Amino acid sequence: MNPHPPMSSSDPQLPQAVTRRRFLQSSGKSAVTVAAGAAALSVPQRVRAQSPSDTIVLALIGAGGRGAVHASNMARLPGVEFKYVCDIWPERGAGIMADLTSVQKRAPQRISDMQVAFDDKDVDAVVIATPEHWHALATVRACQAGKDVYVEKNPSNSIWEGRQMLKAARKYQRIVQVGFQNRSGPYAASARDYIASGKLGRIVHVKVYNMLDGSKWEPQPDSDPPAGFNWDAWLGPAPAVPYNPGRHLNWHPWWDYKGGTLADDGSHQLDLTRMVLGDPAHPKSVLCIGGNYAFQSKREVPEFQCITYDYGDFSMTCESGNATGYLRKFPGEVRFGTQWPHWPTSATRVEIYGTKAMMYLGRHGCGWQVIVEGGKVIDQDKGYFPDKWHQPNFIDCLRSRAQPNADIEQAHHSACLVHLANASYRVGQKQLMFDGAAERFTNNDEANALLRPAYRDHYRLPDEV
Ligand SMILES: NC(=O)c1ccc[n+]([C@@H]2O[C@H](COP(=O)([O-])OP(=O)(O)OC[C@H]3O[C@@H](n4cnc5c(N)ncnc54)[C@H](O)[C@@H]3O)[C@@H](O)[C@H]2O)c1
Repeated sequence: MNPHPPMSSSDPQLPQAVTRRRFLQSSGKSAVTVAAGAAALSVPQRVRAQSPSDTIVLALIGAGGRGAVHASNMARLPGVEFKYVCDIWPERGAGIMADLTSVQKRAPQRISDMQVAFDDKDVDAVVIATPEHWHALATVRACQAGKDVYVEKNPSNSIWEGRQMLKAARKYQRIVQVGFQNRSGPYAASARDYIASGKLGRIVHVKVYNMLDGSKWEPQPDSDPPAGFNWDAWLGPAPAVPYNPGRHLNWHPWWDYKGGTLADDGSHQLDLTRMVLGDPAHPKSVLCIGGNYAFQSKREVPEFQCITYDYGDFSMTCESGNATGYLRKFPGEVRFGTQWPHWPTSATRVEIYGTKAMMYLGRHGCGWQVIVEGGKVIDQDKGYFPDKWHQPNFIDCLRSRAQPNADIEQAHHSACLVHLANASYRVGQKQLMFDGAAERFTNNDEANALLRPAYRDHYRLPDEV
């Protein structure tokens, strides 16, 4: 079942299992460079899996589409076992329970409260694939319990939450890998190295596209929750509202749970772009205009957003929305094959303009091409869908204690690009000046009020993590 039909479908997920042997065979020099460039974390108070022969014990939190893919792929890596599958929705998880039972020759335990996994000394790490409004609280609680974390994108639902996640990761010396899998793609590392070499010249402008298809959003009436479903637990840190299937099954276009297409596929686009640019610090300002132009639906998150970020020495725009069905995400033959995309009609391309040449870059393993006058391609590196490196990178880091490819620090900075744009839109489509060091706006108190959600008492993210 697709839980969010009117929004963009998330990335098709890698179907096959990935073995460590295949990972080592297929990971190129560039992927190694990504990991080698990252600092090793100091040894934490407790690392159960000291050698590759020790079993890593995991818990899956959120057994929907993405969580099932992670559990299925990670359980097929050597020395990895899922002890728990946690979901608050009894209908969810049967498929992955059966799959894990077959792979592990031992059934995981089905639980509905993630705290059970946090309290279990056997559990080394948790994989969090809930909706976004639960990511921060679950990550901080996991870190506090001494667990390492793989948390899906968009990692946070506000700027302050992301900072708290980073603080918790560092304080408890936990591995926190975010589901920005493009960071593990060798093609992303080679694009980053190419740009750093100066072959594009000085970068003056970057255009990020996230122009997807969509359909009209229709509100749905409140109703009783499905039998056995704990709506209060699903809402968690978000404000209390009556059960509504339009929220539960399509949580993407609500500020309280996600933040729309921009927080969904757009966050991948922005993260990959930051990575290849050498992870610039926060921009100085943001302006986001947009609206429900195409379908004129009454949903609160706009159907289309046009954003400008000012980085001081270059500018970046991002166009993101759900109304351009003639543009397409990269097809399978591009993601998993050797075919190059038709760049002008690629919905998820990035254009990087240097003073000497421009680069087209695509995620989903698409790769990059450098173009000069007349459309001549002078350099290129074709990619492959990067889950096959990203999930093993997490498991490797649990053992090595090296910083993962999509460590929470840079992931937080990338997530902030989403939150900055949404803040600008929500305060009336105004330009916001941002003090990156303080992570606060300097010209708009209304926008500062959006930095941190008002949590419900029993689901409060603490000031002191
Ligand atoms: N990296 C990627 O390419 C990628 C692709 C798809 C989805 N995602 C991300 O993965 C996450 C999950 O997306 P999905 O498509 O699998 O959603 P989904 O709706 O299919 O699954 C989410 C599951 O979380 C469960 N859940 C909610 N609150 C919970 C709680 N407190 N405790 C336990 N379980 C809880 C729900 O019942 C549901 O089964 C999202 O953050 C999404 O953005 C990432």
